[in-house]
Amino acid sequence: MTITPNTATAGRDHPVLVVDFGAQYAQLIARRVREARVYSEIVPHSISADEIADRQPGAVIFSGGPKSVHVEGSPRIDPGVYRLGIPILGICYGAQLIAAQLGGKVSCTGIGEYGRTALSLKAPSLLFGSDNGETTAAESRLAAGTLAEACEDADHPVWMSHFDSIATPPDGFAITASTPQAPVAALENPVRRIFGVQFHPEVAHTPGGQAVLERFLYRCAGLAPSWTTECFIDEAVAAIGAQIGDGRAVCGLSGGVDSAVAAALVHRAVGHQLTCVFVDTGLMRHDEGRQVIDAFRRSQGIELIAVDAASRFFDALAGVVDPEKKRKIIGERFIRVFEEAANQVNGAAYLVQGTLYPDVIESGSDSAAKIKSHHNVGGIPEEMDFELVEPLRDLFKDEVRAVGRELGLPDEIVWRQPFPGPGLGVRVIGEVTPAKAALLAQADAIVRAEIAAAGLEREVWQAFAVLPDIRTVGVMGDERTYGQLAVVRAVTSEDAMTADWARLPHELLEKMSNRIINEVDGINRVAYDITSKPPGTIEWE
Ligand code: XMP
Repeated sequence: MTITPNTATAGRDHPVLVVDFGAQYAQLIARRVREARVYSEIVPHSISADEIADRQPGAVIFSGGPKSVHVEGSPRIDPGVYRLGIPILGICYGAQLIAAQLGGKVSCTGIGEYGRTALSLKAPSLLFGSDNGETTAAESRLAAGTLAEACEDADHPVWMSHFDSIATPPDGFAITASTPQAPVAALENPVRRIFGVQFHPEVAHTPGGQAVLERFLYRCAGLAPSWTTECFIDEAVAAIGAQIGDGRAVCGLSGGVDSAVAAALVHRAVGHQLTCVFVDTGLMRHDEGRQVIDAFRRSQGIELIAVDAASRFFDALAGVVDPEKKRKIIGERFIRVFEEAANQVNGAAYLVQGTLYPDVIESGSDSAAKIKSHHNVGGIPEEMDFELVEPLRDLFKDEVRAVGRELGLPDEIVWRQPFPGPGLGVRVIGEVTPAKAALLAQADAIVRAEIAAAGLEREVWQAFAVLPDIRTVGVMGDERTYGQLAVVRAVTSEDAMTADWARLPHELLEKMSNRIINEVDGINRVAYDITSKPPGTIEWE
């Protein structure tokens, strides 16, 4: 092959940019690229070629998208990107866009292809070659010129979801693979280093998909798998040190893994210039306050101020039922309590937050609709007095856990379930009162304890209780009861962007239900939420 791989490493200085054409899959592509230890970021399709050039990316990947390239107003990319000489991989819609913008033909055949299909190699391919530059057996046979023989064992299961098809590739592009319904299932121009695949290499249903992505990154784009947890920590510690200098920082510990890892990172960077603040909002999980204080003061030696502010939160929430208003109130009050605590920390000017990449995207980027204002992003009052330090802003949850492990945080923190900033405030539906929060905390503790007892803690992404504030009639010990309903919510997920309801064993659900009804005075009925995300969200508000 004619390509000499460059030796660029794709750290933050040379990210792989995943251009989002409106697909949920952009997230997944970015994650898969990072799993290949190459740093990636998602950018909107409205980005200009100049802006792309300014970022000096190691490669660009076009995501799929729900539109047809033939529909007016369908998302495009500035065609200048093709002249930058940066390696490009188009996936599904992204591949069709490459074909359409570079002079090929995309047709609406009326025959779509959805789900699993078999891909056969049609020509020598850099993208489908072996990782290390050696040719695969299939490639060798292709080189020998016997296509049929080469394809004999070259059928690969891939996952498709498209209605348009590439009919003719642009000049200079070879058709490298096809499927029964897509004669141009993969195309490439190895000289220009532009590649396209009609199938989705990023989904688990394409078993060889990760290998294809890795070949694109390592072999076609010449990138090195150099973005590791250790190098993230080194870069983050240096950046935090540069930002905070000899200033003082405060960090709110919510009890969750995100704020814990953010605090541990900042502590590593600036040591005693960091003071953590644990605000007991009254909306925490059962016994969470004590656990956080123990873990941080004792095992990490981090300075910690604990503030009991429950009554201030409940006062502010009195009579409020709208979820967005509740989120804003809790977020705002949280910052105010912080400001007061920070005043005890002689001139703290920096606020450390455990904001993650999915939070940043969900709180309203160019192409993802705003779903909820997250406590640690959209809910922050604009006039607050702190400069934010958000060292995890570019990370997905599993990466945060890896960083936490590397920093030596205990398992009980690293593997703690995600917990929303507004806490039980968005799990008590409607008005939040101390009594309802207490009731919910008890039911929630039972749900989590039973999940742990069943050994399912790492299999479920989150398991918790919700109090929808509905009272129902029951009968207990010959007495009529009129008590609260508790809903058990348990989901599996990779990154909280999508989630499925967990198929918990019936015996486990029964045990939770019995324990909640017997042990939590005031709850007389338990239901199980069987909604996935989408269409639901993980939290109820
Ligand atoms: P949803 O309910 O949007 O939640 O499906 C996705 C994930 O985010 C968590 N979540 C939050 N985390 N601040 C946070 O730090 C918030 O305001 C917030 N709201 C939801 C939720 O628990 C789930 O893991």
